[in-house]
Amino acid sequence: MKLITTIPEMQELSTNWRVVTGFVPTMGYLHAGHLSLVQRAVAENQNVVVSIFVNPSQFGPGEDYNNYPRDLEKDLELLKTCRVTHAFLPKDNDMYPEGYQTWVSVDGLSKILCGRSRPHHFRGVTTIVTKLLHIVKPQNIYLGEKDFQQLVILRKMVQDLNIPCRVVGCPIMREKDGLAMSSRNKYLSLAERQQALCLYNSLQLAQELYSSGVRNKQEVVAEMKELILKQKGDIDYIDVVDPENLSSLSELVRGSRILLAVRIGQTRLIDNLEIV
Ligand code: PAF
Repeated sequence: MKLITTIPEMQELSTNWRVVTGFVPTMGYLHAGHLSLVQRAVAENQNVVVSIFVNPSQFGPGEDYNNYPRDLEKDLELLKTCRVTHAFLPKDNDMYPEGYQTWVSVDGLSKILCGRSRPHHFRGVTTIVTKLLHIVKPQNIYLGEKDFQQLVILRKMVQDLNIPCRVVGCPIMREKDGLAMSSRNKYLSLAERQQALCLYNSLQLAQELYSSGVRNKQEVVAEMKELILKQKGDIDYIDVVDPENLSSLSELVRGSRILLAVRIGQTRLIDNLEIV
C-alpha cells in the first residue's frame, strides 16, 4: 500500500491511471463499517484509494472536531490487511490553505433533518468530497448508508455537477446487539452504550408496527419516542422519508426509510432503517 500525503502527488498518479479506481473517503478511526466499504471497493476495482482526513469544515462551532478520535497507525495497519493500494492522507493546510473561499452546497437537501441542527455540516461534506473526487478521479465512490442523508446529498451533487463517478451505497454494519457502528460510539460510557440501543430498538419497533399493519407515521413516531425517552435519549428528529429525495412521508410504505438523530448524554448518534 502506497502512502500519499500531498495533493500534487495524488493528482499525478490519478491522472495517469488506466485502471478502474474505487475510492472510500473516511475520517479515520476505522471500524468494521468502513472496512465493509473498503472490501466492496477491493472486490470491484483494480486500484483502491482510501482517504483519511478529519475535515474541519464539516464540524460546527462547539462540535467535536478537536476530540474526534484519531488512530492513524492502527488505521493504516487495517487498510494493509484489506489489500488497499493507496492511502491518501492530505493535510489541513493543503486542503484549506489560507484564503480558501470556495464552497459546494446542495441547497435543499442540506437544510432538512440533520441540517436543521447542523446548519453548515453538509456544505463541509459536499465541499471536501468534491475536492477529493477531483484529486482522486475514481470511477466508483463507496459510502455507507449509516449516513443516509449524506449519501442522498452526495448522489445529488454528483448528478447535478456531472461528476463522472458511480456512487455506491453500502449497508449499515451493526454491533451484535444492533448498535450501528460509528467512530463516535467511542464517546459513550458503559451506561450510555446500553442507552444507545434505543435508536436501533425504536427502528425495530417501527418495522414491527408496520408489519402488523400500522401505516400512520404519527402513530409510529409516537411509539418510537416513548421507547427512546424511557432510555433518556434526547431526540433531535425522527422522520419517515422517501429514500430517493428525503421528502417527508405521512404514511409508512415498503421501501420508505426511517431516519433519526438522538443525543445520548453528550453524544449525538444517528441511525436509519428501510421499511420492508
Ligand atoms: O462520512 C464521513 O466519514 C465523512 O463525512 C466524509 C464522507 C469522509 C467526508 O469528510
